[in-house]
Amino acid sequence: MAESKVKDMGLAEFGRKELSLAEHEMPGLMAARKEFGPKQPFKGMNINGSLHMTIQTGVLIETLHALGAKVRWCSCNIFSTQDHAAAAHRRKSIGVVVTEQMMTVPGWSVEGTSSSTTSATRSLLIQKGKEFEENTDNAEFKCILQLLRDSILADKTKYTRMAAKCKGVSEETTTGVHRLKEMAAKGELLFPAIIVNDCVTKSKFDNVYGCRHSLPDGIMRATDVMIGRQAWLILVVGYGDVGKGCAFAMRGAGARVLITECDPICALQACMEGFQVVTMESVVGEIDIFTTTTGNFKIITLEHMKKMKNNAIVGNIGHFDNEIEMENLEKFEGIKVENIKPQVDRYVFPDGHGIIVLAAGRLLNLGCATGHPSFVMSCSFTNQVLAQIDLLTAKEKGYKNNVYLLPKDLDEKVASLHLPALGAQLTTLTKEQADYIGVKATGPFKPDTYRY
Ligand code: NAI
Repeated sequence: MAESKVKDMGLAEFGRKELSLAEHEMPGLMAARKEFGPKQPFKGMNINGSLHMTIQTGVLIETLHALGAKVRWCSCNIFSTQDHAAAAHRRKSIGVVVTEQMMTVPGWSVEGTSSSTTSATRSLLIQKGKEFEENTDNAEFKCILQLLRDSILADKTKYTRMAAKCKGVSEETTTGVHRLKEMAAKGELLFPAIIVNDCVTKSKFDNVYGCRHSLPDGIMRATDVMIGRQAWLILVVGYGDVGKGCAFAMRGAGARVLITECDPICALQACMEGFQVVTMESVVGEIDIFTTTTGNFKIITLEHMKKMKNNAIVGNIGHFDNEIEMENLEKFEGIKVENIKPQVDRYVFPDGHGIIVLAAGRLLNLGCATGHPSFVMSCSFTNQVLAQIDLLTAKEKGYKNNVYLLPKDLDEKVASLHLPALGAQLTTLTKEQADYIGVKATGPFKPDTYRY
């Protein structure tokens, strides 16, 4: 068994209990275990994953394992690792779980990497502890993940050996998909990639409804403020999938919500939903809670933060901590930091006014709360399992070193697997009706261009 780095093995039993509860809420993954488990499609395969090490990710890991894979995992955000989830896996002897809260680094190794299937599902901050330096495969794995992480490109020569054995990658996030597309366009992608984020049952569910749940959860756990009060203004920066979920959550909590957008289509959508679209500069001094959702950088600058109200709450649910200029804030001369509690800091400017920064500018829904609920993550992760199965026959299907969508029928399958748990009853098309609208009665029901 591979060595793991886990903070507290005493939490394993708690982790196991929460994993059991989550299984009940993740019907897609449990159906995948039932359908594919007996066939063991991943037998002899290694799946390397990088994704927030939460309970929900734990159910994904155990599903991949149940389908025959050797699984190695690392976390990707210093605040998002749930140590009880990591401990439960360690006890069950599944792969390597790196938690960045780990204090000691025992010697550890990984299983052989022949015929690897790599699932680098989320960018990460793994460079922190030199976790992957002990072993060449680990170093190469780190390089692949760094490549997916951001434009800070790793030394490409380091990952070619592993890439040659890699059947492909399935990518979870909006930003990761951008990077993969850039790499494919430059001819730098060394294996096929399935862009799971672009499955309808991922981005139109996890990004929207997941954030609709976990944004208020994070803000409330961190600050206990009353979000819904007439005089308060909330700014949601970006009105893409995540922004839409956030805006609806804040409005649902009773707040007045403003939006900033650069894309006229999204701005128009916001207007049609009754949200006022503004610029940051025009409202920065009036806002009570800022939430960035763009996946872009330098969204809230130091200059903005200087102009904010006393005790304005500033958080990011988009991608990296660079959506907020944290580095410049921390370096600002005379700034004082009052740590209120873990992941909640009040930065006090020399003029005496302070702002409350959540999760040090990292994802506040994972840093200050526990991320998305299991049910919505079941949709995302069932896509991951189907994508990894699809990659097994990538060569036979003629996949090149490019990015691919999961076929629409699989996207629809993921939705179908989740409907019974919600008591939904689908209408069956007659052959005549199906012919009339030009689809098969069993689907796919929409072309790839349909936007939902
Ligand atoms: P998206 O592309 O649908 O939305 C981003 C929006 O931000 C776009 O409409 C874009 O026009 C807008 N935008 C970009 N720069 C802007 C600026 N300077 N000012 C105002 N608006 C700007 O992407 P999506 O799916 O909403 O994802 C956004 C980010 O959230 C990504 O980084 C993604 O990886 C991350 N994400 C985080 C999750 C979480 O649990 N915290 C869950 C899902 C996604």
